[in-house]
Amino acid sequence: MSIRVKRLHPLIGAEVTGVNLSEPIKQDTLASLKAAWEEYGVISFPGQLITDEQQVVFSRNFGDLEIFPQADNRSAQIPEIFRITNVAADDQIRPINTSSALYSTLIWVWHTDSSYRPVPSKGAVLNAIEVVKNGGDTLFANMYAAYEQMPSALKNRITGLKARHSFLYSRTLRKLPPLEQPVADTLPPVDHPLVRHHPDGRKSLYVSATYMEQIIGLSKRESQQLIHELMTWATQDRFVYRHRWQPHDVLMWDNRWTIHVVTPFNHGVERRVMHRTTITGSEPVRG
Ligand code: OGA
Ligand code: MN
Repeated sequence: MSIRVKRLHPLIGAEVTGVNLSEPIKQDTLASLKAAWEEYGVISFPGQLITDEQQVVFSRNFGDLEIFPQADNRSAQIPEIFRITNVAADDQIRPINTSSALYSTLIWVWHTDSSYRPVPSKGAVLNAIEVVKNGGDTLFANMYAAYEQMPSALKNRITGLKARHSFLYSRTLRKLPPLEQPVADTLPPVDHPLVRHHPDGRKSLYVSATYMEQIIGLSKRESQQLIHELMTWATQDRFVYRHRWQPHDVLMWDNRWTIHVVTPFNHGVERRVMHRTTITGSEPVRG
């Protein structure tokens, strides 16, 4: 049986049915999934009951997997599983003023995953295990469109500019204590161009507010203003697909030309448990 692909938004997102992610994927199906991932940026697979092990096996079809730097957020059994959740390992909701609870709200800021790495991730797979009723939607924006439709004055201002991305900076957004030095030492800031050139010649905006500490060569103030202006431009409704989660949805997205954010929810009350695998990038961000 071949897969069915249904577009979800004019610019980004499709739903894929007719494949069981808990089983080995046949070569021709895999080729169709890669093509859909490439074309739509975000693909949603409703009704997939998969274990962490099966998620890892499925994700490896698309590349090697990253290990998230903070041990707290990884599954104790399978380090490739990054737990994005307000529920602690003891299965209780984290009290909202703890560092780990505050950390879990950083996904409420627009970003592309692991832009703090010298070679950021290519994409991610997210398994929705427990979802909330109010809020907790995930929004995805198309950065090809955001760049293509950008007024030329703004395009000219950002041509050739780079931004500094930093994992340690992201923690300051929630005033979290610094990481232990040995972990911090593995995460030096990196500079990436604001305009990303893809191998096929297309260009997209490369922005990630969670990690973007400053624009190189601008003052702190100018830098914050430009970051704000770019994020406001990039996240306009017309570029955005909103995913309203059902339990057992699995989503995968491309981190090279899409960005995402989670809408706030009552994180001291409603449980939200998502497991992510992250596919390593194969090339640096080229300007
Ligand atoms: C992520 C993330 C989205 C979500 O997995 O990278 O930002 O819906 N989370 O939890
Ligand atoms: Mn993310």
